[in-house]
Amino acid sequence: MSGGIAGGTSGQPLFSVLDVEKAYEVGRAPSVRRFARGEPRLLHALDGVRLDVGDGDAVALVGESGSGKSTLVRLMLGLEAATEGRLLYRGADLGTLSGEARRVFSREVAYIYQDARGSMNPRMRVGDVLAEPMRLHGLCTDAEVPARVGALLERVGLSATMRDRFPSELSGGQVRRVAVARALASEPKIVFADESVAGLDVSVQAQLLNLLRSLRREMGLTLVFITHDLGVASYLCDRIAVMYLGRVVEEGPTGDVLTRPRHPYTRALMDAFPSFGRPLGAPLRGEIPSPIDLPRGCRFASRCPQARDACRETEPVLVADGPGRRVACAFPLSS
Ligand SMILES: Nc1ncnc2c1ncn2[C@@H]1O[C@H](COP(=O)(O)OP(=O)(O)OP(=O)(O)O)[C@@H](O)[C@H]1O
Ligand SMILES: [Mg+2]
Repeated sequence: MSGGIAGGTSGQPLFSVLDVEKAYEVGRAPSVRRFARGEPRLLHALDGVRLDVGDGDAVALVGESGSGKSTLVRLMLGLEAATEGRLLYRGADLGTLSGEARRVFSREVAYIYQDARGSMNPRMRVGDVLAEPMRLHGLCTDAEVPARVGALLERVGLSATMRDRFPSELSGGQVRRVAVARALASEPKIVFADESVAGLDVSVQAQLLNLLRSLRREMGLTLVFITHDLGVASYLCDRIAVMYLGRVVEEGPTGDVLTRPRHPYTRALMDAFPSFGRPLGAPLRGEIPSPIDLPRGCRFASRCPQARDACRETEPVLVADGPGRRVACAFPLSS
Protein backbone atom coordinates (compact mmCIF):
# COMPACT_ATOMS: atom_id res chain seq x y z
CA MET A 1 0.00 0.00 0.00
CA SER A 2 1.71 3.16 -1.16
CA GLY A 3 1.00 6.44 0.62
CA GLY A 4 -1.48 4.88 3.09
CA ILE A 5 -1.34 4.60 6.88
CA ALA A 6 -1.98 1.18 8.36
CA GLY A 7 -4.85 0.97 10.85
CA GLY A 8 -3.21 -1.20 13.51
CA THR A 9 0.21 -0.91 15.04
CA SER A 10 0.73 -4.48 16.21
CA GLY A 11 4.17 -5.80 15.50
CA GLN A 12 5.52 -2.58 14.07
CA PRO A 13 6.80 0.55 15.80
CA LEU A 14 4.65 3.66 15.58
CA PHE A 15 7.62 5.54 14.15
CA SER A 16 10.75 4.15 12.53
CA VAL A 17 13.72 6.29 11.62
CA LEU A 18 15.84 4.25 9.22
CA ASP A 19 19.42 5.41 8.63
CA VAL A 20 18.35 9.00 8.20
CA GLU A 21 20.77 11.66 7.07
CA LYS A 22 20.16 15.37 6.82
CA ALA A 23 22.77 17.60 5.25
CA TYR A 24 22.43 21.34 4.80
CA GLU A 25 24.35 23.23 2.17
CA VAL A 26 26.26 25.99 3.92
CA GLY A 27 28.09 27.92 1.21
CA ARG A 28 30.89 26.67 -1.00
CA ALA A 29 34.44 25.62 -0.30
CA PRO A 30 37.09 28.00 -1.64
CA SER A 31 38.20 26.80 -5.07
CA VAL A 32 41.82 26.28 -6.06
CA ARG A 33 41.08 27.20 -9.69
CA ARG A 34 40.61 30.91 -10.12
CA PHE A 35 37.13 31.05 -11.66
CA ALA A 36 35.69 27.62 -10.88
CA ARG A 37 33.06 27.43 -8.14
CA GLY A 38 34.08 25.24 -5.23
CA GLU A 39 32.21 22.14 -4.09
CA PRO A 40 29.15 22.81 -1.90
CA ARG A 41 30.04 22.58 1.77
CA LEU A 42 27.70 20.25 3.61
CA LEU A 43 26.81 20.41 7.26
CA HIS A 44 25.81 16.93 8.44
CA ALA A 45 23.12 17.66 11.01
CA LEU A 46 22.00 14.00 11.05
CA ASP A 47 24.30 11.27 9.88
CA GLY A 48 22.80 7.80 9.98
CA VAL A 49 20.13 7.97 12.70
CA ARG A 50 18.21 4.82 13.53
CA LEU A 51 15.42 4.99 16.07
CA ASP A 52 12.18 3.13 16.72
CA VAL A 53 9.37 4.64 18.77
CA GLY A 54 6.83 2.07 19.94
CA ASP A 55 3.13 2.75 20.48
CA GLY A 56 2.76 4.20 24.01
CA ASP A 57 6.50 4.77 24.49
CA ALA A 58 7.87 7.93 26.04
CA VAL A 59 11.29 8.60 24.55
CA ALA A 60 13.70 11.29 25.71
CA LEU A 61 16.15 12.70 23.17
CA VAL A 62 19.18 14.10 24.97
CA GLY A 63 22.55 15.44 23.86
CA GLU A 64 24.56 18.62 23.74
CA SER A 65 23.53 21.66 21.77
CA GLY A 66 23.97 21.02 18.04
CA SER A 67 23.71 17.22 18.27
CA GLY A 68 20.71 17.19 15.91
CA LYS A 69 17.73 16.71 18.26
CA SER A 70 15.51 19.44 16.80
CA THR A 71 16.49 18.50 13.25
CA LEU A 72 15.42 14.91 13.90
CA VAL A 73 12.07 16.06 15.29
CA ARG A 74 11.49 18.41 12.31
CA LEU A 75 12.03 15.44 9.99
CA MET A 76 9.73 13.20 12.05
CA LEU A 77 7.03 15.87 11.90
CA GLY A 78 7.39 15.91 8.11
CA LEU A 79 8.41 19.59 8.13
CA GLU A 80 11.63 18.83 6.24
CA ALA A 81 12.69 15.95 4.02
CA ALA A 82 15.61 13.64 4.79
CA THR A 83 18.64 13.78 2.50
CA GLU A 84 19.01 9.99 2.79
CA GLY A 85 17.16 7.22 4.59
CA ARG A 86 13.47 6.78 5.37
CA LEU A 87 11.01 7.77 8.09
CA LEU A 88 8.02 5.49 8.54
CA TYR A 89 4.86 6.36 10.44
CA ARG A 90 2.82 3.20 11.10
CA GLY A 91 4.68 1.58 8.23
CA ALA A 92 4.02 4.37 5.72
CA ASP A 93 6.91 6.37 4.30
CA LEU A 94 6.51 10.07 5.20
CA GLY A 95 7.91 10.98 1.78
CA THR A 96 5.00 9.29 0.01
CA LEU A 97 2.06 10.37 2.19
CA SER A 98 -0.63 12.11 0.24
CA GLY A 99 -4.34 12.97 0.41
CA GLU A 100 -6.18 11.21 3.21
CA ALA A 101 -3.00 9.62 4.64
CA ARG A 102 -1.38 13.05 5.03
CA ARG A 103 -4.50 14.35 6.79
CA VAL A 104 -4.46 11.38 9.17
CA PHE A 105 -0.77 12.01 9.86
CA SER A 106 -1.27 15.71 10.59
CA ARG A 107 -4.09 14.90 13.01
CA GLU A 108 -2.33 12.05 14.80
CA VAL A 109 1.07 13.72 15.15
CA ALA A 110 1.17 16.85 17.31
CA TYR A 111 3.87 19.21 18.45
CA ILE A 112 4.23 21.34 21.56
CA TYR A 113 6.21 24.40 20.58
CA GLN A 114 9.09 25.53 22.75
CA ASP A 115 8.06 29.17 22.45
CA ALA A 116 4.44 28.62 23.50
CA ARG A 117 3.42 32.29 23.56
CA GLY A 118 5.19 33.14 20.30
CA SER A 119 3.49 30.21 18.56
CA MET A 120 0.01 31.61 19.23
CA ASN A 121 -1.72 34.34 17.28
CA PRO A 122 -1.85 37.20 19.84
CA ARG A 123 -5.18 38.36 18.42
CA MET A 124 -6.91 35.00 18.95
CA ARG A 125 -8.59 34.17 22.23
CA VAL A 126 -7.59 30.92 23.92
CA GLY A 127 -10.95 29.36 23.00
CA ASP A 128 -10.33 30.02 19.31
CA VAL A 129 -6.73 28.75 19.53
CA LEU A 130 -8.09 25.43 20.82
CA ALA A 131 -11.10 25.29 18.49
CA GLU A 132 -8.96 25.70 15.36
CA PRO A 133 -7.55 22.12 15.22
CA MET A 134 -10.98 20.66 16.09
CA ARG A 135 -12.56 22.45 13.13
CA LEU A 136 -9.62 21.82 10.81
CA HIS A 137 -9.83 18.07 11.38
CA GLY A 138 -13.63 17.97 11.53
CA LEU A 139 -13.63 16.32 14.95
CA CYS A 140 -16.99 17.67 16.03
CA THR A 141 -19.87 19.91 14.98
CA ASP A 142 -19.69 23.68 15.59
CA ALA A 143 -22.27 23.29 18.36
CA GLU A 144 -20.03 20.82 20.20
CA VAL A 145 -16.89 22.99 20.06
CA PRO A 146 -17.49 25.09 23.24
CA ALA A 147 -18.00 22.00 25.42
CA ARG A 148 -14.91 20.33 24.00
CA VAL A 149 -12.81 23.47 24.52
CA GLY A 150 -14.01 23.69 28.14
CA ALA A 151 -13.21 20.01 28.76
CA LEU A 152 -9.76 20.39 27.22
CA LEU A 153 -8.95 23.41 29.42
CA GLU A 154 -10.00 21.48 32.49
CA ARG A 155 -7.98 18.47 31.43
CA VAL A 156 -4.80 20.60 31.50
CA GLY A 157 -5.72 22.11 34.85
CA LEU A 158 -7.09 25.47 33.67
CA SER A 159 -10.48 26.97 34.34
CA ALA A 160 -12.91 26.87 31.40
CA THR A 161 -13.26 30.66 31.80
CA MET A 162 -9.73 31.03 30.38
CA ARG A 163 -11.25 30.59 26.93
CA ASP A 164 -11.98 34.33 26.74
CA ARG A 165 -8.41 35.45 27.48
CA PHE A 166 -5.77 36.44 24.96
CA PRO A 167 -2.33 34.71 25.18
CA SER A 168 -0.80 37.98 26.45
CA GLU A 169 -3.14 37.80 29.47
CA LEU A 170 -1.73 34.45 30.67
CA SER A 171 1.22 33.63 32.92
CA GLY A 172 4.17 31.60 31.55
CA GLY A 173 2.87 28.40 33.15
CA GLN A 174 -0.69 28.99 31.92
CA VAL A 175 0.39 29.66 28.35
CA ARG A 176 2.40 26.41 28.33
CA ARG A 177 -0.70 24.54 29.50
CA VAL A 178 -2.67 26.09 26.65
CA ALA A 179 0.10 24.92 24.29
CA VAL A 180 -0.29 21.38 25.66
CA ALA A 181 -4.09 21.64 25.28
CA ARG A 182 -3.71 22.82 21.69
CA ALA A 183 -1.48 19.84 20.90
CA LEU A 184 -4.13 17.54 22.40
CA ALA A 185 -7.04 19.22 20.57
CA SER A 186 -6.60 17.09 17.45
CA GLU A 187 -6.70 13.88 19.55
CA PRO A 188 -3.18 12.85 18.55
CA LYS A 189 -1.49 9.48 18.99
CA ILE A 190 1.97 10.94 19.37
CA VAL A 191 3.15 14.25 20.77
CA PHE A 192 6.58 15.78 20.21
CA ALA A 193 7.87 18.36 22.65
CA ASP A 194 11.06 20.38 22.26
CA GLU A 195 12.38 21.70 25.59
CA SER A 196 8.80 22.26 26.72
CA VAL A 197 9.60 22.73 30.39
CA ALA A 198 12.95 24.50 30.07
CA GLY A 199 13.26 27.90 31.67
CA LEU A 200 10.24 27.52 33.94
CA ASP A 201 10.43 27.87 37.68
CA VAL A 202 10.68 24.50 39.38
CA SER A 203 7.13 24.35 40.71
CA VAL A 204 5.55 25.19 37.32
CA GLN A 205 7.94 22.73 35.71
CA ALA A 206 6.86 20.01 38.14
CA GLN A 207 3.17 20.76 37.49
CA LEU A 208 3.67 20.47 33.73
CA LEU A 209 5.68 17.28 34.03
CA ASN A 210 2.98 15.73 36.22
CA LEU A 211 0.37 16.84 33.72
CA LEU A 212 2.24 15.24 30.80
CA ARG A 213 2.78 12.09 32.81
CA SER A 214 -0.87 11.70 33.69
CA LEU A 215 -2.02 12.55 30.16
CA ARG A 216 0.28 9.83 28.89
CA ARG A 217 -1.26 7.32 31.27
CA GLU A 218 -4.88 8.35 30.71
CA MET A 219 -4.79 8.82 26.95
CA GLY A 220 -2.16 6.22 26.02
CA LEU A 221 -0.17 8.97 24.31
CA THR A 222 3.21 8.32 22.78
CA LEU A 223 5.71 11.02 23.67
CA VAL A 224 9.02 12.15 22.17
CA PHE A 225 10.56 14.68 24.50
CA ILE A 226 13.70 16.69 23.79
CA THR A 227 15.44 17.84 26.93
CA HIS A 228 18.83 18.85 28.26
CA ASP A 229 17.74 17.78 31.71
CA LEU A 230 18.50 14.15 32.59
CA GLY A 231 16.25 14.46 35.66
CA VAL A 232 13.30 15.41 33.42
CA ALA A 233 14.19 12.56 31.04
CA SER A 234 14.16 9.98 33.81
CA TYR A 235 10.97 11.30 35.40
CA LEU A 236 8.90 11.39 32.22
CA CYS A 237 10.41 8.92 29.79
CA ASP A 238 10.85 5.16 29.88
CA ARG A 239 13.37 5.18 27.06
CA ILE A 240 16.28 7.48 26.34
CA ALA A 241 18.28 8.08 23.16
CA VAL A 242 21.58 9.92 23.58
CA MET A 243 22.68 11.90 20.52
CA TYR A 244 26.14 13.13 19.65
CA LEU A 245 26.99 15.03 16.48
CA GLY A 246 24.12 13.77 14.35
CA ARG A 247 24.02 10.18 15.62
CA VAL A 248 22.34 8.15 18.32
CA VAL A 249 25.29 6.79 20.34
CA GLU A 250 23.37 5.00 23.09
CA GLU A 251 19.76 3.99 23.60
CA GLY A 252 17.74 1.95 26.05
CA PRO A 253 15.45 2.00 29.12
CA THR A 254 16.07 5.32 30.90
CA GLY A 255 16.76 3.92 34.37
CA ASP A 256 19.08 1.27 32.99
CA VAL A 257 21.07 3.68 30.79
CA LEU A 258 21.41 6.29 33.53
CA THR A 259 22.50 3.82 36.19
CA ARG A 260 24.81 1.81 33.92
CA PRO A 261 25.88 4.02 31.00
CA ARG A 262 27.89 2.12 28.40
CA HIS A 263 28.95 5.01 26.16
CA PRO A 264 31.61 7.35 27.61
CA TYR A 265 29.59 10.30 26.23
CA THR A 266 26.53 9.30 28.29
CA ARG A 267 28.81 9.03 31.33
CA ALA A 268 30.24 12.50 30.62
CA LEU A 269 26.76 14.02 30.25
CA MET A 270 25.78 12.51 33.59
CA ASP A 271 28.95 13.79 35.30
CA ALA A 272 28.27 17.30 33.99
CA PHE A 273 24.67 17.23 35.24
CA PRO A 274 24.19 19.02 38.57
CA SER A 275 22.87 16.78 41.30
CA PHE A 276 22.10 17.76 44.87
CA GLY A 277 24.79 16.70 47.35
CA ARG A 278 27.31 15.65 44.72
CA PRO A 279 30.17 17.81 43.43
CA LEU A 280 30.07 18.53 39.69
CA GLY A 281 32.30 16.24 37.62
CA ALA A 282 34.97 17.62 35.32
CA PRO A 283 33.42 19.22 32.23
CA LEU A 284 33.87 17.43 28.92
CA ARG A 285 37.26 18.35 27.54
CA GLY A 286 37.62 19.85 24.08
CA GLU A 287 35.12 21.26 21.64
CA ILE A 288 32.43 19.33 19.80
CA PRO A 289 33.94 18.78 16.29
CA SER A 290 32.44 20.68 13.36
CA PRO A 291 29.59 18.87 11.59
CA ILE A 292 31.06 20.25 8.34
CA ASP A 293 34.41 18.46 8.70
CA LEU A 294 33.54 15.30 10.56
CA PRO A 295 36.56 13.48 11.99
CA ARG A 296 37.54 10.00 10.84
CA GLY A 297 36.69 7.09 13.12
CA CYS A 298 34.55 7.63 16.21
CA ARG A 299 33.32 11.22 16.28
CA PHE A 300 33.59 11.32 20.08
CA ALA A 301 37.25 10.14 20.14
CA SER A 302 38.72 13.66 20.34
CA ARG A 303 36.97 14.20 23.69
CA CYS A 304 36.80 10.68 25.04
CA PRO A 305 38.91 9.87 28.12
CA GLN A 306 38.97 6.18 27.06
CA ALA A 307 39.87 6.67 23.37
CA ARG A 308 42.43 4.27 21.89
CA ASP A 309 44.17 4.37 18.51
CA ALA A 310 41.55 2.06 16.95
CA CYS A 311 38.82 4.59 17.84
CA ARG A 312 40.37 7.17 15.50
CA GLU A 313 40.31 4.69 12.62
CA THR A 314 36.93 2.97 12.58
CA GLU A 315 33.51 4.49 13.15
CA PRO A 316 31.53 2.31 15.59
CA VAL A 317 27.97 1.39 14.62
CA LEU A 318 24.98 1.19 16.94
CA VAL A 319 24.66 -2.46 17.97
CA ALA A 320 22.54 -4.43 20.43
CA ASP A 321 23.95 -4.32 23.95
CA GLY A 322 21.78 -6.34 26.30
CA PRO A 323 17.98 -6.34 26.61
CA GLY A 324 16.48 -3.31 24.85
CA ARG A 325 19.82 -1.52 24.74
CA ARG A 326 22.09 -0.39 21.94
CA VAL A 327 25.43 1.35 21.99
CA ALA A 328 27.87 2.69 19.38
CA CYS A 329 31.28 2.31 21.03
CA ALA A 330 34.17 -0.05 20.27
CA PHE A 331 35.10 -0.22 23.97
CA PRO A 332 31.90 0.31 26.01
CA LEU A 333 32.24 1.02 29.72
CA SER A 334 31.92 -2.03 31.89
CA SER A 335 28.76 -2.03 33.96
N1 LIG B 1 18.49 25.06 8.41
C1 LIG B 1 19.77 24.79 8.76
N2 LIG B 1 20.80 25.14 7.96
C2 LIG B 1 22.07 24.84 8.28
N3 LIG B 1 22.44 24.22 9.41
C3 LIG B 1 21.46 23.85 10.26
C4 LIG B 1 20.08 24.11 10.00
N4 LIG B 1 19.33 23.64 11.03
C5 LIG B 1 20.21 23.10 11.90
N5 LIG B 1 21.50 23.24 11.45
C6 LIG B 1 22.71 22.74 12.11
O1 LIG B 1 22.50 21.36 12.37
C7 LIG B 1 23.11 20.98 13.59
C8 LIG B 1 22.05 20.36 14.50
O2 LIG B 1 21.15 21.39 14.89
P1 LIG B 1 19.89 21.13 15.84
O3 LIG B 1 19.13 22.39 15.93
O4 LIG B 1 19.17 19.92 15.36
O5 LIG B 1 20.61 20.79 17.23
P2 LIG B 1 19.96 20.55 18.67
O6 LIG B 1 20.49 19.23 19.16
O7 LIG B 1 18.49 20.71 18.61
O8 LIG B 1 20.62 21.71 19.53
P3 LIG B 1 20.01 22.60 20.76
O9 LIG B 1 20.11 21.71 21.98
O10 LIG B 1 20.94 23.77 20.82
O11 LIG B 1 18.60 22.98 20.41
C9 LIG B 1 23.75 22.24 14.16
O12 LIG B 1 25.11 22.23 13.80
C10 LIG B 1 22.99 23.36 13.46
O13 LIG B 1 23.81 24.51 13.34
MG1 LIG C 1 17.15 22.10 19.45
